[in-house]
Amino acid sequence: MPDHYREFGESLLDFEVRDDDVWVCSFPKTGTTWTQEMVWCIANDLDYEGARVSLDLRFPFVDVPGIFYHSKVDRIKSDLAMLTHEPLTFLEGCDSPRFIKSHLPFELLPLKLQKRQSKAKIVAVTRNPRDTCVSYFHHCKLYEGYTGDFEDFCKLFLNDAVTYAPFDRNVLSYWNRKDTDPSIIFVKYEDMKKDLPSVIKRVSAFLGKEYTDSEIGVLAEHLSFESMKRNPAVVREEILQEVGLTADDSVFREGKIGGWKKAMTAEMVKEFEAWTASRFLSTGLDWEYDP
Ligand code: A3P
Repeated sequence: MPDHYREFGESLLDFEVRDDDVWVCSFPKTGTTWTQEMVWCIANDLDYEGARVSLDLRFPFVDVPGIFYHSKVDRIKSDLAMLTHEPLTFLEGCDSPRFIKSHLPFELLPLKLQKRQSKAKIVAVTRNPRDTCVSYFHHCKLYEGYTGDFEDFCKLFLNDAVTYAPFDRNVLSYWNRKDTDPSIIFVKYEDMKKDLPSVIKRVSAFLGKEYTDSEIGVLAEHLSFESMKRNPAVVREEILQEVGLTADDSVFREGKIGGWKKAMTAEMVKEFEAWTASRFLSTGLDWEYDP
C-alpha cells in the first residue's frame, strides 16, 4: 500500500456511513461523471434546478488528498478546496442524503459498507478496457502531466501501473458481489450508450423511484453527451481555466464506444485481447467493443 494512502485509507475504513448514502464507484474514465449525474437526478426527483450546482459539490469525490488534479488549484472556491484536501471532513459536514464518488475497489471502502452494516447503496459502473485505456491516456496527458506516448501508456495500463490499477481487481470487486449484495447495482457504459432509458429505469427501481416514459425521455436528453458537454455544472470550466485549460478539454471528449479502433495498432489489440482473456476468464463479465 503506498505510504501516502495509508493514513487516509485507514480513516476511510472507519468512515461513518449513513443509511441513505448513495455511492458511485468506478475505475477512472469508465463513465463516472455520466453515472453520477444520472444517479443524482434520479435520486433527487429530477430536480434540474438543484442540478445547476456544481456536480463536484453535489457528488463529492472521496479520495486520497492530493492525488487529484483539483488539488493543484490554489484559488478554487474554499469548499471545493476543502473537499480535495480533506475529503472525509468535507463529507461529514454534508447534509443527508449524501452522494459520494469513489474510484476505489470495494475492499477499500468503509467497513460499514463492506460488512453491510448500513443500507447505503452503491452504483458501480464499468466500461470496456480498451476505450477506458484510450480515455485514460488523454486524461493523464491533459491533467496529470503524462508525457509518454499511447503505446507506452497501454503498457502501463496492462501492467497495472496506472493510478487505481489493477483495472480487473477494481471492476471485479463489484461485479462479483452484484448478485449477492442487494445494495450494489452494476452498470455498463456500453449499455448506457445503447439504451440509456432502460438503464435509467433499472437504476430508478434500485433507488426506489419510478418515472414515466416522458420523464425518462427528458432525463435521457439531459444526460446526452451534447447536453452534458454544454452543462456548466458538470464541465468544471472554472477549474480547467485555473490549470490553463478550456471547456473543450473537459472530460466530455468523444463519448463513444470503439474509439480504441483508431488509437490502437493490431499488435496492441492482440495484447488487450490476451490480457482480457486472462484477467476475466470465467468471471462472466464481458463488454461490447463496437458501436
Ligand atoms: P472519452 O474520453 O472516451 O470521451 P469519467 O467520467 O469516468 O472520467 O469518464 C469519462 C468518459 O465518459 C469520457 O470518455 C467521456 O466522454 C464519457 N462520457 C461522459 N459523459 C458522457 C455522456 N453523456 N455520453 C457518453 N459518454 C460520456
